[in-house]
Amino acid sequence: MPSVGTRLRDITRRLADAGVPSPAHDAAALMAHTFGWEISDVRTAAARDDHWPEDPLDHDLLEARVARRCAREPLQHITGKAPFRTLELQVGAGVFVPRPETEIVTEVALELARAAKPARDGMVHVTDLCAGSGAIGLSIAAEMDNAHVALVEASDEANVYLRLNARMLPASVRSRVRPILGDARGCLHHFEGCAQVVVTNPPYIPSNAVPRDVEVREYDPPEALYGLGDDGLAVPRAIIDEAARLLDVGGWLVMEHGELQGEALRAHAARSEFWGDIHTRQDLTGRDRMLVARRVGV
Ligand SMILES: C[S@@+](CC[C@H](N)C(=O)[O-])C[C@H]1O[C@@H](n2cnc3c(N)ncnc32)[C@H](O)[C@@H]1O
Repeated sequence: MPSVGTRLRDITRRLADAGVPSPAHDAAALMAHTFGWEISDVRTAAARDDHWPEDPLDHDLLEARVARRCAREPLQHITGKAPFRTLELQVGAGVFVPRPETEIVTEVALELARAAKPARDGMVHVTDLCAGSGAIGLSIAAEMDNAHVALVEASDEANVYLRLNARMLPASVRSRVRPILGDARGCLHHFEGCAQVVVTNPPYIPSNAVPRDVEVREYDPPEALYGLGDDGLAVPRAIIDEAARLLDVGGWLVMEHGELQGEALRAHAARSEFWGDIHTRQDLTGRDRMLVARRVGV
């Protein structure tokens, strides 16, 4: 049996040859996941040139997982887990893998929610539209004790993960989240003016801008990627309109978008009398990635 270090180098090289973007990390993650270790344990054992446990079945399993990653199946589908802020979300085929940039969108929504005046029931009501695995909304519920979060998701498959992830939360958090299966553009008939914050990471890629990464193109569900219309903004525009209906006066909308879409979304919001303080915010690399707007009274 080769040593941990030899195996790590071999798997890293095979992943790199297959075009995997972060081969050293993914090799260590696959080894850690298979043997029930932490990634840091793998690195330490590799540095010491320790030898592996002898179980040949585990080594067959590792080989199978490496082959899946070489075929560019997302690491998170293979491990079944995606870290997001304080949570470890369950993900797999049929649900969008949450991205690090959405952690910043969540941070902005959390800041606005924390500053909001609670509703008469003492809670700050947050609505996560296009919730997927629940990354944004469940994080807000987990990180803010008086947040009550409704999460709307249209896909049956994504809803399975959304509910699984909600169920993993401690009871005190779970009691403040409400997963809803439905179309974010109009399923919340009875929630008019109820939310202090609406946050959303909708599909926004134009149909003709097929992503280059195999992991995205082949494994993220199309309904999670393509926002319809010539510019990919048909769904986001409809969601801005719906957010105006859902928000209480003074409430905030936070919407993730592509780096070149800020102006078009600001223009759409500005055409409505319901929005004020319309602006774009950036991600950690300085790219325009979020529309933020305040619901004003008319
Ligand atoms: C880009 S993913 C974001 C998922 C999650 N919010 C995140 O950030 O990881 C967009 C999600 O919106 C869902 N979706 C697309 N159109 C929708 C609609 N009209 N109503 C509700 N959900 C929708 C997709 O199924 C997908 O789960």
